[in-house]
Parts: sequence; structure tokens; C-alpha cells
Amino acid sequence: MSYPEMSIIRDIRVLTEKFIPNRILHRTGQLEAIRDDIKPLLEGSVPRHVFIHGNPGTGKTCMARYVAGELESYSSDIVQSYTNCWENPSRFRILYNIAKDVSSAPIIHRKGTPTDEILEMIKRSLEGKHCVVILDEVDKIEDDRVLYDLITLQNVCMLMIANSSTALYNVDSRIRSRLASSDNIEFRPYSSSEIIDILSDRSEWGLIPGVITGQQIEMIAASVSGDCRAAIDIMRVVSEEAERSEHEKITDDMIERSLPRIEMFKKELSMGALNPHQKLIMEIVTGAGGTIDSGELFRKLSELSASKGMESIVDRTFRNYTNKLVKYSFLNSSGDGRWRTFALPKKQF
Ligand SMILES: Nc1ncnc2c1ncn2[C@@H]1O[C@H](COP(=O)(O)OP(=O)(O)O)[C@@H](O)[C@H]1O
Ligand SMILES: [Mg+2]
Repeated sequence: MSYPEMSIIRDIRVLTEKFIPNRILHRTGQLEAIRDDIKPLLEGSVPRHVFIHGNPGTGKTCMARYVAGELESYSSDIVQSYTNCWENPSRFRILYNIAKDVSSAPIIHRKGTPTDEILEMIKRSLEGKHCVVILDEVDKIEDDRVLYDLITLQNVCMLMIANSSTALYNVDSRIRSRLASSDNIEFRPYSSSEIIDILSDRSEWGLIPGVITGQQIEMIAASVSGDCRAAIDIMRVVSEEAERSEHEKITDDMIERSLPRIEMFKKELSMGALNPHQKLIMEIVTGAGGTIDSGELFRKLSELSASKGMESIVDRTFRNYTNKLVKYSFLNSSGDGRWRTFALPKKQF
């Protein structure tokens, strides 16, 4: 559906959270890994469950729904189910939700239907089929037996999503041990340039050409600390404002007014908020011409901090400090693990 009478917005749905884009940018490694984990389902063997974790707005839900949708369209034997465990925390609600998604006949919800009966319904509906079950906000489940229920279904692959990497630490040890072979995939915050790409792609579908400039997209991307939801939200809010106030274009002023508060704090805090090691990290990256790989940065930091008589820091602290610098947009990062590189953002505030 398009809106020919609109002068700013072409399709508002593209700028809403539920929209699943037709391509996922900058998550190729993760996308391939999840595809590989699920693939055995297609071949009738046992898939690997997947645990996806990362900060809000890092594309976890979007990725899970995208992959599940992709698979569902691949074969009529594959079905998918999505449950947000925050909205449906009990074992009954989760299984009931899955039963609704996977059964072809309507589920009759009698009061007092035993949960085990719902589980049997799911089993029957899935005979001869395979199913991808997304459990979003999985740390909000009230009763971890539901994970056990689903593990016992051989033809189900679970995509479990949470913000924290430790979300499943407290589940019953028998369940944890069965989930030990799950693939554990981290979604790091996006760099500003990755957010720019995603916003540009979205604006092409969602907005009339030319109503937002590249520089305005950069302004939004620089302010959201790698949170793609916040970035798209801002773009939607300013588009709606421009549309409502009958502007022909989005103005810088509209964007400035809708930028998150954190950006203002950050401007004030600026370098004053950094600890000595983080300041040293910033100096090293600047000295290296603005880009440096993680290994070299760590080596130089160790050398320099030793020569300045500062405490030496371990790898984990290093990651913690650099993650904070990325989170607050002092640095951009790309790549993972050993291949991670850090760079100064294009525009320093
Ligand atoms: N790699 C990506 N490519 C395209 N759109 C993305 C990507 N990552 C996130 N988004 C979009 O950003 C918004 C937030 O993503 P979401 O998956 O809901 O984040 P999370 O579940 O990690 O909080 C959604 O509108 C989603 O479509
Ligand atoms: Mg989510």
C-alpha cells in the first residue's frame, strides 16, 4: 500500500517495529550461523538450538523472525511459532501460543485445559513436520519446564532470545545441560556506520526520495549508541512530524529535538567521564590514525600503561572498557573477536 497523497512518508509500516525487512544488513556471520544450526531440520536430523543475546535494538528479534520466515517459505513441512515470553510467561501460555501457531485446526481453549494436553496437541500437529520456535525475552519465563517440554520434541528447533548472556544460568541444571550444545550468538551494538546503512535502506522503502539527507541520517545514527530500534523510531517520529506540519522535507531542527537525552549527557560528560585506561585507549586510536585492530590496541595499551606506571588490565577488563566506549559512541567497532577493529566516529561531537 502506498500513500500517493503524502509528501514525506511512502509506507509507514516500514518504519514500525514489527516490520521484517526483506534484507538484514551487517549480520551476515550471525545469519549464516543460525541457518547452519537449523539446517539439520530440513534433512530430518537434529538441529542445534540457538541462544541469541545482546543489547536492545541489536536486531535479535528481527533476525529470528527473518530466518524462521525464510525457512517456512522454503518447505510446507516447516512451520514457525513466535512467543514473547514477557507477554506470555507461564508454561501454559507459551505452549498454548505455540499450539495456536502450529495447528491447522482452531484450538479450543477450555478453562482448565491441562497443560500436558496442550503439549500433546503440539506433538500431534507437528507429526511429519518441523518447527522453528522463537522464544523472545526468554529470561521472563516463569517455569523453565517449558524449555524441557520443547527440548523433548525432536522436530523442534528453538531460537531463544534475551538481552543478557547469563539469561539461562538459573534454569534447572538438567535443562541447562541439555542446552549446553546450543549455539550461543552475541549481537553486539551496531556501529554508527552500520546504523547509517540500515536507516538509509529503510528510508528508501519508507520515505519519499529526497525528504531526508544523508547528513541527517548520520545525525540520528551518531546519537543512538548502536540501538537500531531507537534510530528507526527517531526516523519515524520526525517523518510523521514533517508530514503533519506539511513540510516538504525533514528539517535538522526536528531531528535535534527528537534525539535521545543520553546524547546531551554525553556531550557534557565528554572525556571527563572516561577512566585513565579509557582515555589512553582514545589516545592510542587517535595516534594510530583513527583505526586500529583489537589485538594491537590491547598490546599498545599494555605497553603504555606499564610505562606510565598504571595498573595492567586483563583481557576481560579491556573488552569491558572498549565495549563502553563503543556503547557511548566514543568509538565505532566492526568485526568480532580477534577480527574486531576500533575506529573514531567520523564526526566527533
Ligand atoms: N541488521 C538489520 N538490518 C535491518 N534492520 C534491522 C537490523 N537490525 C535491526 N533492525 C531493525 O531495528 C529494529 C530493532 O530491531 P529488533 O530486532 O527489534 O532488536 P532487538 O530484538 O535486539 O531489541 C527493528 O525495526 C529491526 O527491523
Ligand atoms: Mg527484541
